[in-house]
Amino acid sequence: MRRNFNELIMYNLLKGKRGIIFGALDENSIAWKVAEKAHEEGANFTLTNTSVAIRYGTLNKLAEKTGAQVIAADATSLTDLEALFTKSIEILGGKIDFVLHSIGMSLNVRKGRTYNDLDYGFLQKTQDISAVSFHKMIQTAKKMDAISEWGSIVALSYIAAQRTIFGYNDMSDTKALLESIARSFGYHYGKSRKVRINTISQSPTKTTAGGGIYGFDYLYKYAEDMSPLGNASADECADYTITLFSDLTKKVTMQNLFHDGGFSTMGISQEVMDMYIQGIECENKKE
Ligand SMILES: NC(=O)c1ccc[n+]([C@@H]2O[C@H](COP(=O)([O-])OP(=O)(O)OC[C@H]3O[C@@H](n4cnc5c(N)ncnc54)[C@H](O)[C@@H]3O)[C@@H](O)[C@H]2O)c1
Repeated sequence: MRRNFNELIMYNLLKGKRGIIFGALDENSIAWKVAEKAHEEGANFTLTNTSVAIRYGTLNKLAEKTGAQVIAADATSLTDLEALFTKSIEILGGKIDFVLHSIGMSLNVRKGRTYNDLDYGFLQKTQDISAVSFHKMIQTAKKMDAISEWGSIVALSYIAAQRTIFGYNDMSDTKALLESIARSFGYHYGKSRKVRINTISQSPTKTTAGGGIYGFDYLYKYAEDMSPLGNASADECADYTITLFSDLTKKVTMQNLFHDGGFSTMGISQEVMDMYIQGIECENKKE
């Protein structure tokens, strides 16, 4: 419970840890919530996003609140990533203990191109921004030896990587790639520096990126009705992410971890069955 400052529960799980948080755009962003909680748990970190997102979003407000410095970086640019790690180490006074990749964008979705009419130039860009950037940031960090032993890297994913979700478009394939990078690089970085790499597969969440998904409000309601525990909120996702950055999960790596109120294991719930029956009965009455 975090109703007000006096009731705040803090465990100091990240005391003394240094991090880099990618992808906070505004206060709805999952990365925004992670930054707030990482701050509460005693971490020092830098915040990063593209120059455009910094200009149009409200990242500076978060920086003020958490005492973090903002460093502009396009996550697809190796030059930007190298500069980001160099500056972060300088500002924070040592190697990095945790990194959050909270980045997603599909040009095909934005431009209204459907999955069976993709523009391949857009697809390439989508994969570069939303998945290959994960490889780029990890490879850059590893080459620079920028992450401490037992450090933790987390990216955010969605169940459309495993199950076909109509309307998620080319982001389904992109999330599958993202999750695969966590497994493949988890091996290499684990072996050499004991760095762990995981993805969290999060429930539909009301954010700018989430809102871009076809029929988002209905998808959100469907997931809510299917999940015995209900959808996981951005705040709850942040709590889970903090545990993965903490020393309590040192042997968890190369995993895709569902954080979805039980959705991923469900077939059909009573609520969804009732709605389905109602829909069919309604159709039958019309005939
Ligand atoms: N919202 C959902 O329903 C949901 C569900 C599961 C997973 N996710 C994932 O969570 C992550 C965060 O998304 P969100 O929902 O908080 O939305 P968001 O729109 O707040 O965050 C997406 C971020 O990606 C950043 N970004 C885009 N291009 C970039 C680039 N080239 N370099 C650096 N940053 C770039 C944007 O500026 C933005 O800050 C994404 O990976 C998304 O796919 C979201």
